[in-house]
Amino acid sequence: MIVYLNGEYLPREQARISPEDRGFLFADAIYEVVRFYRGRPYRLAEHMDRMRHGLNAIRIAADPGFYPEVARRLLVENGLAEGDAIVYAQVSRGAAPRTHSFPGSDTRPTVFAFARATDPEPPAEGGRAILVADERWGRCDIKTVMLLPNVLAAQKAREAGAMDAILTRDGVAWEGTKANLFCVCDGAVRTAPNGPRILPGITRGAALDAARRLDLTVEERPIAIEELFSADEVFFASTTLWTYSLVEIDGKKIGSGKPGKVAESLKQELWREFTR
Ligand code: PDD
Repeated sequence: MIVYLNGEYLPREQARISPEDRGFLFADAIYEVVRFYRGRPYRLAEHMDRMRHGLNAIRIAADPGFYPEVARRLLVENGLAEGDAIVYAQVSRGAAPRTHSFPGSDTRPTVFAFARATDPEPPAEGGRAILVADERWGRCDIKTVMLLPNVLAAQKAREAGAMDAILTRDGVAWEGTKANLFCVCDGAVRTAPNGPRILPGITRGAALDAARRLDLTVEERPIAIEELFSADEVFFASTTLWTYSLVEIDGKKIGSGKPGKVAESLKQELWREFTR
């Protein structure tokens, strides 16, 4: 595997990052995951805008302008230019002796990226999720690598035999550990509004666009936990899943207990946009 690190393409085993890198010491870093089909990105400009928003928000002086060329080269070098692949990229504030406040302005951000084949789709019969208290910070709209609450919730889900956790706070089911959350309630496709409690998912936006194209009613409004259990459908949306139906939450059946029609039709729309 060939990876990208600070301007160089090199075998993964040779990529070295300082133990003083602030990504390692403080999770002081922003990341993105972009999907490619036959070398063509899905909504790359939106991913770059989100990365720019994150870098500005945490005041890392770097620009996501590297993404298109680094991704192109990584896909080619790793034999992924003809398939379905993701390109992960991360920018940290760089390496410097440990102090909480920012290091000197001569500290160069660390830029790391890799490509790999997209994971196979999860089982077609839909997934099970559990509810877990959302213990993340107050700026979930920034895509930082500070994912420990997500990691712990995902592990709890795995140990419970579920595919993922739904993060809840203040009576609201906000999102998954790595996907936005949707329901179909009273005939409307609903997801939480963008704001500090969720990541503004690129697939979330694409699924809302697709729902409008299909003339479905769309609502951006928080989903109360109880509403999950009376919903016709509940599904995740993310770069790696498109949409994915949840058929059971905390051991209770959702809707018909089978993947829903709305999630399926949105998934088809997203696939069409991705592979056209
Ligand atoms: N996760 N919410 C969270 C907390 C996420 O981590 C992600 C993405 C999403 C969906 O965003 P998008 O549609 O832009 O992929 C929502 C990525 C894929 C990850 O961490 O691997």
